[in-house]
Amino acid sequence: MGLFDAFSFKGKRAVVVGGATGMGAATAELVLDAGAEVVVLDRAEVTLPGVKAVSLDLSDKASIDAAVEEVGGPIHALFSCAGVADGTPGIERINFIGHRYMIERLLANDALPRGAAIGMISSAAGMGWENSLTELHEYLDITDFDAASAWALEHNRADYMWSKKTINAYVSREAFALLKRGIRINAIMPGPTDTPLAQANKEMWLGFGSDYRDEVGIEASKPIEQAYPLVFLCSDAAAGITGMTIITDAGYFAAGVTGSYGPAQEAIGFLRSI
Ligand SMILES: NC(=O)c1ccc[n+]([C@@H]2O[C@H](COP(=O)([O-])OP(=O)(O)OC[C@H]3O[C@@H](n4cnc5c(N)ncnc54)[C@H](O)[C@@H]3O)[C@@H](O)[C@H]2O)c1
Repeated sequence: MGLFDAFSFKGKRAVVVGGATGMGAATAELVLDAGAEVVVLDRAEVTLPGVKAVSLDLSDKASIDAAVEEVGGPIHALFSCAGVADGTPGIERINFIGHRYMIERLLANDALPRGAAIGMISSAAGMGWENSLTELHEYLDITDFDAASAWALEHNRADYMWSKKTINAYVSREAFALLKRGIRINAIMPGPTDTPLAQANKEMWLGFGSDYRDEVGIEASKPIEQAYPLVFLCSDAAAGITGMTIITDAGYFAAGVTGSYGPAQEAIGFLRSI
């Protein structure tokens, strides 16, 4: 055993929710390479060799129940990656309520042992969530799957930005109770990342911050560049980190907050204010 083994997943079992494509697929590939036994849950076909695939539709409670039973335990790292864009029916369930329901079912089954970690994918679009904390608490207090979905639809909150703000608030408010069980929870907030989802919404998703990227001479993130910090957060090397939503946007946020890249100021100021 060396000190660097804390980054390894040897002897661990990892579950990737939404691991068929994009960042989830990169996460599955990385954590497999890091030594884990990997189970990938998705509604789409899983093509990565060497992993177990389980069919899952996050918008459907019964499908989550069935997947939880099939996956079993123990799960040392749970990566909650699946997400869809605005315009997808059930977005409030797929992007948040389904992930939360799965976590709760796994906790009820004692499938997440002490030392386990949960890593979620939020979005830079979810920054500024602290401004809405009162309303987010109201939403998060509705723990029932169908009632939470109904609340989001009734309150005009079944949208992408709200789903990501909700993840950020959830990670922050659940960290304390989870740590009492020895479990950590964190999230990354990626900036534009070249995945099938971003390509399907190219102008808005990959256009965002392209002036900044041109200026510093970088491309949109590759999925693996988001998987690296997500896998780190669920490794033992991140034992001191929980309840955090980490902005992984190649510096756009920092440049916007400080004004070191002036044109980012307006976009970041807007996202932080709503
Ligand atoms: N690509 C970006 O620029 C970007 C930026 C910030 C955040 N994100 C977030 O990153 C996460 C991963 O997205 P991605 O860009 O890799 O896209 P992607 O479409 O490649 O990956 C999403 C995965 O979720 C799965 N999925 C979708 N609906 C599902 C459902 N109902 N049940 C089960 N699985 C389902 C898809 O089949 C796919 O495998 C999402 O939460 C997204 O909101 C993406």
